[in-house]
Amino acid sequence: MPSILVTGGAGYIGSHTVVELFRADYKPVIIDNFSNSEKSVLKGIEAITGETISLYAGDCNDEQFVKHVFESEPEITGCIHFAAYKAVGESVEKPVQYYKNNINSLLELLSAMLKFNIKNLVFSSSCTVYGQPDDLPVTESSPVKKAESPYGNTKQICEEIIKDTVDATGKIKAVSLRYFNPVGAHPTSQIGELPIGTPNNLIPFLTQTVAGIREELIIFGDDYNTPDGTCVRDYIHVVDLAKAHVKALDYLEKEKNDSVYQVFNVGTGNGHTVLDVIKTFELATGEKVKYRIGIRRPGDIEKVWANADKIYEELNWKAERTLKQALYDAWNWQKVLKSRGK
Ligand code: WQD
Repeated sequence: MPSILVTGGAGYIGSHTVVELFRADYKPVIIDNFSNSEKSVLKGIEAITGETISLYAGDCNDEQFVKHVFESEPEITGCIHFAAYKAVGESVEKPVQYYKNNINSLLELLSAMLKFNIKNLVFSSSCTVYGQPDDLPVTESSPVKKAESPYGNTKQICEEIIKDTVDATGKIKAVSLRYFNPVGAHPTSQIGELPIGTPNNLIPFLTQTVAGIREELIIFGDDYNTPDGTCVRDYIHVVDLAKAHVKALDYLEKEKNDSVYQVFNVGTGNGHTVLDVIKTFELATGEKVKYRIGIRRPGDIEKVWANADKIYEELNWKAERTLKQALYDAWNWQKVLKSRGK
């Protein structure tokens, strides 16, 4: 079976993707520096799949380390690149670290791929590249706007680097997946989101509030031009998102043209407000969410959701899990974390 290098494979989306790779008869090889994940994740993946994982603990920015991995794993036919810093707010405070880490790690990976003649690349991008779209739902041909944060800018720059490399070398086939909002956890509760410190994102903050770890959830503004005044997002179950990566890899493995670059939105096509999420969580779990309305968070866009027709037409992928299922899985995972004292 083809070996796939998964950078950041112990992370939230990476770990769920590693599970789906095993399921699709790929052999994932993980690189992770554990700057934003834990080794316990590997045990969770092994508990789900019954497989032993090939792990290389190290940093994609380390040229010698990346070279060592490729030399040690001659069966690698493709890469999925997750490894990056991803906190929007933190990127505003630490732009140099974000540009250096997120861009240089991609450059090291691309250099190694060209050196070892590895052709297939799936890149973890984000709907953040669209900013606040003028028209909704947003399609892949919607304009990429000036990023609202250094984090979003690194995603735009990385997409351009990949496209330039595909066009210039004719030796790389690549897909950029523009994620909408990944949420939920594996239904087995063996793996899930592991926010380190205070969560930046809505769902972990919500589940930690219900678990009594946080005092209350603050909704960042209810004066937007949306049905209930709170922001609208396209929340996609992390398992559906993981499966999209396998579909992208299948597509690249079959693609005869050695120089192809495709961009796909990966979302459900449905938008939900923050208050919708709270109501759906309460319905899914029977728990009550303590919240209050606060001021807007700087940099937040008002509303965004995907037109996901292209990925369905070209990769035969569509989201199958509901927001309710994702919130149910997220809550079960939170309870497991609490039982572990986290
Ligand atoms: C969702 C909604 C908040 C927390 C970012 C990145 C995106 C991806 C996911 C990495 C917004 C509201 C949140 C809270 C709230 N990152 N909210 N109270 O900002 O849409 O997307 O994270 O892959 O690239 O841009 O996600 O979960 O932070 O916020 O009211 O305590 O929840 O205002 O409307 P966001 P989020």
